[in-house]
Formats: sequence, C-alpha cells, structure tokens
Amino acid sequence: MSSHQKPTAIIDCDPGHDDVMAILLGARVLDLRGLTTVFGNVDLEQTTRNARQTVEFAELTAIPIVKGMAQPLVRDIRHGAHVHGESGLDGPTLAPPTVPVREDLATDFLLAQSHEVENLTLVPIGPLTNIATALRLDPSLPERIKEMSVMGGSLTAGNATPTAEFNIWCDPEAAHVVFSSGIPIKMVGLNVTRQVAATPERRGQIRGIGSRTSTHVADMLDFYSERYRVVSGMPGGAMHDPLAVAALVDPDILRFEPMHVAVELRGTHTYGMTVCDARHLRAGSTDALGTPRGETPNAEVAVEVNADRFWELFLDVLATYQ
Ligand code: BDR
Ligand code: CA
Repeated sequence: MSSHQKPTAIIDCDPGHDDVMAILLGARVLDLRGLTTVFGNVDLEQTTRNARQTVEFAELTAIPIVKGMAQPLVRDIRHGAHVHGESGLDGPTLAPPTVPVREDLATDFLLAQSHEVENLTLVPIGPLTNIATALRLDPSLPERIKEMSVMGGSLTAGNATPTAEFNIWCDPEAAHVVFSSGIPIKMVGLNVTRQVAATPERRGQIRGIGSRTSTHVADMLDFYSERYRVVSGMPGGAMHDPLAVAALVDPDILRFEPMHVAVELRGTHTYGMTVCDARHLRAGSTDALGTPRGETPNAEVAVEVNADRFWELFLDVLATYQ
C-alpha cells in the first residue's frame, strides 16, 4: 500500500500482547501519527512502559508515545493481568525502555492532531477513556474525525463477564460517550476476533520468517496462547487488536452490518454489554403497521471474518521487520 493511500491514524492502546501485534501492523499499513496509552490490561504506568518497549524493540521510535488516562470515568478500576501477566507483556523479556514519553496529555495530543490532520482516523484498542475525555473537552471533535475502528464489544458473548467484552467493561460510561458521539464507528468485537487464533501452526509460520522480530513475536504469542488455552480453551491467543487495524486497510478481511449499539450502564448482569440491534431495522424502516422501529444505526458491526486473509496480511507485514 503506497503512503498516500494509508489512513492517517492514532492507535489508542493498553499493551497487552495483542496491542503489540496491532502496533506492528499499524506502523506499516497506517500513516501512524502516535500511540496514546490508557490503563486497561495493566495500569497506565505499565501500559506506557510496554508501548515504549514495543517501539524500541521494533525500531519504531519515531512514533510519539503520549500518556493518557489512568482511571475509568465512573466505575472502579479493573485490569486484565490473568491473560497478559503482571507486566502486561509477560513472556519473553525486552530491555528497559529509554525512549521518552511526550510531555503533553493524550487528550490534548488527540485534539491537536484532529486539527492538524485532515481525515484523522482513531483506532482504540483499549478502554475508551481517552477518547471519551477528548470528546468531553471538545464536543466539536466528531466533525474532525473521519472514522474510528474500535476493538471492543461483542455481538454475542463477552469475555470479562458473560455479557461484556473487556475494553468496554473497563469503562462502560466512556464507551457510551464514544458510541453516542456520531463519529462513524467500525466495531470489531469478540464475535469475530475470537475466530482468529494464533494456533501452533500460525506461530510456526511466524517463527519461520526467521527474523529477530518474528522470533520475538512468536515467543510472545506462545505465552499469550498458553494463557488463552488455560483461560478459555482456545487453540491460540485471539488476535483481537490487530483486526481493528486490518479493518481499515483490507475490506475483504471483515464484513460489517450497520446496527445501533447501546452500551448497558445499569444491568446487574449486563453492565458493559454492547447491545447490538441486529434486527436490520434501519432509520425510517417501519413495522407492518407503518410505525418506525429501531434506532438509527450508530456503528458498522463486524459480523464475519476471513481469518486466512488476515494472516496473509499479518505475515507479509511481519516479514518487513528486521
Ligand atoms: C481486549 O482486551 C484486552 O485484553 C486485549 O488487548 C483486547 O484489546 C479483548 O477483549
Ligand atoms: Ca488492548
């Protein structure tokens, strides 16, 4: 993909093994303006440290790293260490980072970039706290955002709870702000991301590239996949976050359907659930009596994934690293 075709984007992340995969992919297929960090898989200090280690390891130190929010807007803080380990990136070790973090806040960086860049795209792959806060600071932000590809939510089951996906569950109120913002949203949820697993065969293909980067990535995915096997019985770690990047550059990887997505904020058993109206009742559609039904879709929800095509892209991109 030539650089003039690449979406100009910011990845908002909480690394996390699959966040690292998204960064490696995004650095090649997006015109990546920066990484903003947020609490999530582990605390903000650690996710920021992990982002720094990632850009150093992958020789991507020109990409600015900007620290964001350390806590959810309303709810109590939760982390995902059972999947990613205490550091958020357990498994093969990386050198302590030396690359600096920018002085400004992620929310200020996001707003400044939205003025500087025409058609800015956002790729949130952690809790939505930074984006929601930026929207609260400047309600005109949606006018300057082309679209957002969100890894979050689910059309079917959750993972943090039976009904809620982890990123949304970490900060449901923030997710509500984002889904109500009017920004065009691609929702890449668990219903598709859990179908793309780093199986032993896929890890073998990655290792087979034979580079320093691919060897480290295969080692990372070995750790992550073992956690997935124990926690959810899957044959490999789910490639959640890189799919949100892939959605922006290859229309054949994911198929989307327009739906209204509401974030549940009150349910005892459903707090943080993405309630997707899959009835295909578009704005203006009516029931048999002519009564309008269903709310206007606010998101394109991923309903189908071509895992082989994703792996083709991912393996090609990994092969470009040393
Ligand atoms: C999401 O939760 C995190 O653990 C992953 O990095 C991904 O963003 C999947 O539910
Ligand atoms: Ca993540």
